Parts: sequence; structure tokens; C-alpha cells
Amino acid sequence: MPARICKYVQMDTINTAISKQHLTTADVARLAGIHKDTLLRWLRGGLIQEPQRDRHGWRYFTPTEAQAVAKFALSSTHDQSHDATTIVAEDRNTRYLGRLPALDWDFAGAKTSYLTHGIHPYPAKFIPQIPNALIQELSGVGDTVGDIFCGSGTTLVEALTLKRHAVGIDANPLACMISRAKSSGCNEFDREALLALTQQARTMGDSLLPSTTEGDLFPASKFISEHWRPAFDKLTFWFDLHVIEELAEVLSWCRALESDVARDLALTAFSSIIVTVSKQDSDTRYVRREKNIPPGDTLRRFARSLEQITQAATEFADVVESRFRCQIAQANLLDSPSIPALDLVVCSPPYPNAYSYHLYHMTRMVWLGMDQPRFRKEEIGSHRKYSSNSKNAATAETFGAEFSKILMWLSSRLRRGGYACFVVGDSTLKGQRINNADLITLAGEKAGFQEVMRIDRIMQATRKAFNPAIGKIKTENILILENRGGKA
Ligand SMILES: C[S@@+](CC[C@H](N)C(=O)[O-])C[C@H]1O[C@@H](n2cnc3c(N)ncnc32)[C@H](O)[C@@H]1O
Repeated sequence: MPARICKYVQMDTINTAISKQHLTTADVARLAGIHKDTLLRWLRGGLIQEPQRDRHGWRYFTPTEAQAVAKFALSSTHDQSHDATTIVAEDRNTRYLGRLPALDWDFAGAKTSYLTHGIHPYPAKFIPQIPNALIQELSGVGDTVGDIFCGSGTTLVEALTLKRHAVGIDANPLACMISRAKSSGCNEFDREALLALTQQARTMGDSLLPSTTEGDLFPASKFISEHWRPAFDKLTFWFDLHVIEELAEVLSWCRALESDVARDLALTAFSSIIVTVSKQDSDTRYVRREKNIPPGDTLRRFARSLEQITQAATEFADVVESRFRCQIAQANLLDSPSIPALDLVVCSPPYPNAYSYHLYHMTRMVWLGMDQPRFRKEEIGSHRKYSSNSKNAATAETFGAEFSKILMWLSSRLRRGGYACFVVGDSTLKGQRINNADLITLAGEKAGFQEVMRIDRIMQATRKAFNPAIGKIKTENILILENRGGKA
């Protein structure tokens, strides 16, 4: 009986207190007399209906929704049976995933290079709107969102801006460097150092005349060129001599920066121009083409890129709160790396036969002193492994077996009931079309995952990172698996 009196008193107090039209999660937790973390746990577990979110991803509750939370809080203390406002566990997927099919996933014409997203090219990176929507719908503020094939860090940037912690993994050391640069932000001290470097590169670039003798640009500091040019036998096949000298000069400046963040940002600017000033045709074509880069151009391009990156990283630091952490690990997923527990995974895995990152990034990795041969061995899905005519060439079964191993590992890292989202296209293998989403679902079933949704989306063929000549990918699937095994 005392418990019931207490209940009426509390509900009355709550009704009086709800005068605002929109209440925050903290408001509602306070009114219901529970800790905010408890409310977030109930929301995540599907015990309370998710409210709407504002454009920053913050939940806002209507007075009716707040009352429902308060009732649930009371019933969970005094009465184990839930009232009509609570959601039974079976409805969980319907409610969490229910809004997803109604979204326009094509995002035609959407701006994709805001904040740090556009600072470095990366083949097959997904547009930020995709992870943004999935993170908003399938996780809460303070959750940890992982991208197990993080590439250039698109998911990590979106997770941090939506007030989630982020965890990224990639076997490609270049991907990890770009991801760090995109997700670090830049403080005043780094900004000053980087703007000084920008000015230094611009001044030196402008001082070089088109007639400057090749191979003799910096006679006073010739040792720089000798010390910093990589030991790579095809260096002069891919770069003009004066470009090698300018790149060596820039690299020596970047390496000398004291702060890790500033160094990553400067090296990302350095890396961003390498394909353009080399004779490599493009980011997704490893064939030679003369480009006639004039002396000074490499330095000026570096200055432009660094200026843009510094600006983007400064804006990023203004938007993201430092309490949301980002951890990035360079690791082969097939080695079951150790990572923090995840609440949600959003990734675009490598497609069999579609890209060869170890090749496209060869000249960049050589200049940056990265272990390219190791990454070549570890890379999943590479065109090289699948297109070989040898009897050891990779097949659809290879991809399925690799995913079985990865999903087995993931089931113990992703919380039970958590979602793993894969944005995948089909591939063509020896003339046969391969449905990669089916292969991933099948591999997932063996590891305790269940497919709960698949959405088709049309890719924008004009996107720079999309190479229609390889793999013939025009549409892709957003595949969502639920972890029905794993830890609670
Ligand atoms: C399609 S890309 C991801 C692009 C990313 N979503 C973005 O927006 O930049 C796939 C990534 O998988 C990575 N990868 C390939 N094999 C891997 C492996 N064995 N372990 C970890 N990452 C791997 C590649 O290096 C590549 O960055």
C-alpha cells in the first residue's frame, strides 16, 4: 500500500513538472527519478520507445513520452509486468529499424566533403550520409560505434560529430593515418605550426622558375633529397626528378613537426598530392602517363592541400567535444585484433575483385615508409588475388571463409542485440555475378548473426571514388545483421 501512494505522488509531481514541450534525455531521467545511464540502457534494450531526434542527433521527448518513461520507471520498481506504453522485446527490431526503409538512401546531390571528409581521396569510401543515418537510428549518444574496415575514417568522423565514441580498424597503414588526421581536430598550437609550413611551401614553390634545372632545385640542401627520397627502384619511372626533390623537401619538413596531430595532418596533405604529381594515371589506375608537372607545382599543391586540411581540422575541433574518444588500430581483421566493446558497427567492406588498395596506394606508401608488401598479403578482396589465372586464385568461397572468421570474432566484440551494418555491392568473378551481401549473411549465420534488413541503394556513378570499369558496381546493399550471440 505505501508503494501505491508513493506512485500516485510521483506521477502527480511529474505531471506538474512537465511544462516544456520538448524534454532532453537528462530532463526525463530526472523527472522519472532514474539515472540517465539507466534510461539510455532501457532505450538501447528496446524497453522504452525511442523518441525523435533533432538535427544534431540529440533525443527529444514529448510530454507523453516522458510520462511513459516515468510510468515504466515506477512499474519496474514496484511491478515487474510492463504497461501498454512499454515495448516488448520482440518489437525491438521493428521499432529500431522501422524508419530505415523510408529514408532516401540515394542521397543524390548531397554535399559529401564537409568537415574533414574531403581532405584525402580514398577509393570506394562511402558517402557520410549513410553512416550518419545508421548511427542516428541504431545507437545512442555515448555509445561506441566501430568501423572494422575504416578506410579513410568516414564512419569515425560521423560517430564523433554525433557524440559517440569511435573505434576504427584497417590493415592499410595509410588508411589509419588518414583516419587519424580526419578525426583528431587541430588546436591553436598545431594550427600555427601548420600555417607556417603552408607559407614556407608556398614561398619556396613560387621561387622556383619553370626553367630551373631538373635535379638541382635545392643545391644548398642536397642531402635532404638524398636522405628523404625512398629506396624504391621504380621511383624515377613514376616521378620526374624535380618532383622527387620537392617531395623530399616537403617530407623532411613534415617529419620534423613535433606534435603527433600536426605531423599526421601534414603527412596527410603530403600524401594527398602524391598521385597527382606522379605519373600514376589516377587514384584507381596504376598505369603510367606523362603529366609534365612544372617545377614548384608540387610545393604549391602541398601548400594548398595543407591549408585546406588545417582549416577542416580546425572546424572539426570546434564541432566535436573532446570527451568523445576515437581509437584507431592498424590490424588485419583475420588476426582477431583486440578492441573495445562495440554497440554498433557501420562499415563498407572490401569487395572481391573490385579494388587493389595495395597497388593504388603503392607510391604513397613508399614515400611514407609504410610496409606495403605486408598490406598486399593481408588485403581482403583485392583485384590482384581474384583475377589471377593460377589455381590458387581467390574465389567467392575465399571471401565467405574470411567473413566467417571475421564475424566469429565480431560476435564477441559487439554487444548482444547490437547491429552490424555492411554497405556492399556485388562483384563479377570470372564472368559470374557474386552477391556479396548473401555471402556475408551466410557467414554471419554461422557466427550467431541474423539478417534483419537489406536495403538497395543506387550509387552515384559520377562519384570520383567510384570506378565503374572494375567490378561493375552500380547499386549496393545496406545489409543489417543483428548479433544474437555474443555478450549481453
Ligand atoms: C571499401 S574500403 C572502406 C572505406 C571506408 N568506408 C571509407 O569511407 O573510407 C575497405 C577497407 O578494407 C580494408 N581492408 C582490406 N583487407 C583488410 C583486412 N584484412 N583487415 C582490415 N582491413 C582490411 C582496406 O584497406 C580498405 O581500407
